[in-house]
Amino acid sequence: MALGGAKIMWKYVKTLEYPVNIKKKDLRIAKYLVTQYGGSNGELAAAFRYLNQRYTMPDDKGKALLTDIGTEELAHVEIISTMIYQLMKDATLDEIKKAGLDTHYAEHGKALYPTDANGVPFTVAYFATTGDPLADISEDMAAEQKARAVYENLLDLTDDPDVIGPLLFLRQREIIHFTRFKELYDEYKKKYKNKM
Ligand SMILES: [Fe+2]
Repeated sequence: MALGGAKIMWKYVKTLEYPVNIKKKDLRIAKYLVTQYGGSNGELAAAFRYLNQRYTMPDDKGKALLTDIGTEELAHVEIISTMIYQLMKDATLDEIKKAGLDTHYAEHGKALYPTDANGVPFTVAYFATTGDPLADISEDMAAEQKARAVYENLLDLTDDPDVIGPLLFLRQREIIHFTRFKELYDEYKKKYKNKM
C-alpha cells in the first residue's frame, strides 16, 4: 500500500513461534494456563512492560533489546491463547460447569479473556515504568524469573505431551530473556556508574 509515496509494509509471520496442536480437551489445565495470558507474571504483562519501557532506555542497544523481547512476548501471547482455545473448544456445557468455568462462560462463552488462574482480570498495574533504566531492567529480570517459575508450576500440573512441548519452549525463552536483560543491566551499570 502506498501512502504519500511511501511504501507501508506491515510484517507479520502467520505461523506461531512454536507449533501448538493439542488433541485432548482439558479444562482443568486451561483454567491454570490462562494466568500466563492475563496474570501478573504472564505474557501480556511482559509485552506491555517492555514495549513501554523501551523509549527511555539510554541507547539504541537497550531500545532494540526491549523492542525485540517485547514483540516476542506478543508471539507468546499468541501461543498461550491458542493453547487455551484448543483446550476449551470442544468442551460441553456440563464439563464447563464441572471445571468451575461456568462464571467465565456466563461472561465470555468460550471466548478468551485475560485473567489470572483465579479469574482476576488483567490490569496494567502489573508493571511499572520508572524512566530509570537500571530500575526498569531489574524489574524485567525479576519478571522473567517469575514467568519461568510459573511455567514450571504449570508443567507440574499436566502430563499431556502436546501441552508440555510448548510450555518447555516458553520456559526456555524466559531463561534466555533473563540472560539478555542481565547482560544489558551489567553493561549499563558499568557504563553509567557515576549516573545511575
Ligand atoms: Fe520473556
